[in-house]
Amino acid sequence: MKLDEQYKLIYFKDLGDERGNLVVIEGEGMDIPFDIKRVFYIYGSDDTVVRGQHANRETEFLLVNVGGSSKVKVDNGTETAVIELNKPGMGLYLSPMVWKDMYDFSADSILLVLCSRHYDGTEYIRDYEEYLREVGKEV
Ligand code: TYD
Repeated sequence: MKLDEQYKLIYFKDLGDERGNLVVIEGEGMDIPFDIKRVFYIYGSDDTVVRGQHANRETEFLLVNVGGSSKVKVDNGTETAVIELNKPGMGLYLSPMVWKDMYDFSADSILLVLCSRHYDGTEYIRDYEEYLREVGKEV
């Protein structure tokens, strides 16, 4: 599959008014394609760390920098792309089986991650050579 079919930038509506901003993300096909089963967020990382460095066999994700900024490098074993997340209303949707690195976190970065599945360590691929094998690349 082509990489640009495996990720998507989604812009959410801002229902803010003079009192401030309010961004809504609804699951089950409304704003994002999946039913949200798990939420986690990453903060206190900086520009010296690289997180992620894995692919998930089953889980779909939606990443939003609700504060600050970070970069995400996506890789399908053939193509790569870098997406900068720097707006609270901008989300990066990732299909299963995309290798991802998150890095270049600003000091105030809060990276919110919505997931289609509960945590299951066995669906993670953390070895890049194993990942390449599973996507049918020779290593
Ligand atoms: P890790 O996968 O290294 O985080 P990242 O993708 O940001 O690099 O996760 C760190 C630890 O937290 C690891 O021991 C697994 C655990 N963890 C959970 O228990 N539940 C979760 O939903 C997540 C994302 C991680």
